[in-house]
Amino acid sequence: MAFIHLDIRCLYAILICTAFGSTLSSNAEIKVNPPQDFEILDPGYLGYLYLQWQPSLSLENFKECTVEYELKYRNIDSENWKTIITKNLCYKDGFDLNKGVEAKIHTLLQGQCTNGSTVQSSWSEATYSISPQGNLETKIRDMDCTYYNWQYLFCSWKLGIGVHFDTDYNLFYWYEDLDHALQCVDYIKGNGKNIGCRFPYLESPDYKDFYICVNGSSKSQLIRPSYFIFQLQNIVKPSPPDYLSISVKSEEINLKWSMPIGPIPVKCFIYEIAFTEDDSTWVTTTFENEMYITRTSNKSQQLCFLVRNKVNIYCSDDGIWSEWSDKQCWKGDIRKETLLFFLIPFAFVSLFVLLITCLLLYNQKALLKMVKNKIYIMS
Ligand SMILES: *[C@@H]1O[C@H](CO)[C@@H](O)[C@H](O)[C@H]1NC(C)=O
Ligand SMILES: *[C@@H]1O[C@H](CO)[C@@H](O)[C@H](O)[C@H]1NC(C)=O
Ligand SMILES: *[C@@H]1O[C@H](CO)[C@@H](O)[C@H](O)[C@H]1NC(C)=O
Repeated sequence: MAFIHLDIRCLYAILICTAFGSTLSSNAEIKVNPPQDFEILDPGYLGYLYLQWQPSLSLENFKECTVEYELKYRNIDSENWKTIITKNLCYKDGFDLNKGVEAKIHTLLQGQCTNGSTVQSSWSEATYSISPQGNLETKIRDMDCTYYNWQYLFCSWKLGIGVHFDTDYNLFYWYEDLDHALQCVDYIKGNGKNIGCRFPYLESPDYKDFYICVNGSSKSQLIRPSYFIFQLQNIVKPSPPDYLSISVKSEEINLKWSMPIGPIPVKCFIYEIAFTEDDSTWVTTTFENEMYITRTSNKSQQLCFLVRNKVNIYCSDDGIWSEWSDKQCWKGDIRKETLLFFLIPFAFVSLFVLLITCLLLYNQKALLKMVKNKIYIMS
């Protein structure tokens, strides 16, 4: 029995060995090359780069298989790779050019010729970075861009620390609709230097990456450029709401206001209301441009509110609160005041009219008397 056991084990071992051997040898047969001429190209769009490559060598051996490329890329120092699987020979995306870019790609072979399993090539790698020029302190500081009322883009910055007196900065921008990067044409000046830019009207620049580069020049030193990427709908600061009205019916208070004039759709607003009843104030938000609330006390004398607005989460990832609107108030004893205000002059006027009519009537009587007397004398 022991012999037979041994034999069976041997048999199994031999079977397993041959099975492994055959799969190993069949896998070893299929080998695919990585893509050729993998490179990262900078078309001058301030961060929007082209990753491109050529097909792997000897792909004609695998006609019954699909060939795809797995591309991974990231800014150097960032934690995660972005992964794309594509059949194309080019891929485009935006990068932060303040840092370098690295990418790698390999060929994926799948189909009949591999018996359904996926065969991968080794990686091809490429990197890209703007050759660093100037030290970090020469960069602009505190870049701040706001897209006012979804209409006017405005950026401002501070000069680099310790830059030479002849240093000046220039702003360039690009987004998908432009053929090439453009320079700012309307700079804001401070002490004769460019410290901001008023952008011209931009044709549908939102919901896509908007690239900005602020670089500079000086005869005596190199200036480090700064790169920025925004989506303009995320930096909108609306005009504040106006035409506020407050009406009070016993306990119910109705607050209303108008959307600011401009291109922002009604459904894109969120409002914050600061409501004051005598000495207490509370703040709430709403998506409507109207609100009903209940008075906490019948005796409250002064009800006031003001509103500000922001682009809501249905239209952007972020936004900037507008300034607060003017304050609108309702005063509890306003009726008495208005009553008095109207009644006193009204009483005066009525009295005056009465006096005049009396006088007229009196005069008329006297006149009549005189006429009668005259007739009497003549007759
Ligand atoms: C694919 O699998 C079949 C059976 O499933 C086998 O006969 C054939 O040899 C395999 N071919 C390769 C290339 O592995
Ligand atoms: C600033 O950037 C623009 C756009 O990329 C480029 O054309 C220009 O030469 C740069 N200027 C300097 C001084 O580096
Ligand atoms: C306010 O006054 C009305 C009647 O004048 C009364 O019915 C109501 O309960 C009062 N509400 C409060 C909150 O005092």
